[in-house]
Amino acid sequence: MTVAVVGAGIIGLAVAWRLRERGIDVTVLDSGEPGAWHVAAGMLAPAGESAFEQSALTRLLEESNDRWPAFAAELGVDVGFDDAGTLGLALTADDLADAARVWTRQKLPLLRPSELREREPALSPRVRAGVHAPAERQVDPRKVVAALRERLAGRIVVKRVESLSEVDAETVVVAAGCGTAALTGLPVRPVKGQVLRLRGEPGLLRHVLAATVDGRHVYLVPRADGEIVVGATQEERTDATVTAGGVHDLLHAALELVPGLAELELTETTVGHRPGTPDNAPLLGRLDDDSRVIVAAGHHRNGVLLTPITADLIAGLAAGFQDPLLEHFRPGRF
Ligand code: GLY
Repeated sequence: MTVAVVGAGIIGLAVAWRLRERGIDVTVLDSGEPGAWHVAAGMLAPAGESAFEQSALTRLLEESNDRWPAFAAELGVDVGFDDAGTLGLALTADDLADAARVWTRQKLPLLRPSELREREPALSPRVRAGVHAPAERQVDPRKVVAALRERLAGRIVVKRVESLSEVDAETVVVAAGCGTAALTGLPVRPVKGQVLRLRGEPGLLRHVLAATVDGRHVYLVPRADGEIVVGATQEERTDATVTAGGVHDLLHAALELVPGLAELELTETTVGHRPGTPDNAPLLGRLDDDSRVIVAAGHHRNGVLLTPITADLIAGLAAGFQDPLLEHFRPGRF
């Protein structure tokens, strides 16, 4: 069987890798422009990032989170340092009320500010309350993509696909992020996110911080090498402009949370577009029942987290196995 994967983002590459492991002849076609993975911080937060209570999506997120350590080990990348986990944080009483809805769902006990500062001494005294989610991790998506590209050496072709009729393969997997809409007619919309990268001496932070700060959601993802990723705006916009307001809002929230960040170098300001869908759950499965086209797109805020399970389910589907989990994520459900 021949399979062409359209899109060499983190999802497309992971699907192609799993297909190759099954001995399938796979080619990845890509325009060469980096996608959302290049901007993504790589937080692996199955509860904190899903706005809706959708039981099938929650299960998918949790199962994928469970698969990340083995997936990362196979690729030789790490998932956070010291298994520190994530701290969910709130600054004001309103922030606490907002965050508590998610924390209650996670069944995590509330920690006092002193307990939080024992874990992260750099936290501001303004932090009012928080929780520790030990099973949440992080990964550097740029390292994951580099490792996947290595494993697919010779299989990636730089080619902008304008129409699926140009693609000569028995099965075509469309993993083209926001570009999936133009190729398939499916309702995938771009959701702009501005993300900053700071750099300083390693050791200022150990945990991923996911916080509500004066009504604004912000996350800080520290890497062992001293990089700290600060994200993200969420804007229903298609432009790729880094705005003064976006950078201000992110830095303001980050510094309110961890004042010591003011000393770090601001090394990158970036913009990406999350591929959103009407219910913000991914599109996974055949375009039509008898179609040669399989879709793996629309992962919205959870593309990195959902990479391992998407790769397993979609490679399995291409090989002829329809996992019952896919039923909830049919591309044609709208
Ligand atoms: N998962 C983080 C974001 O989409 O901003």
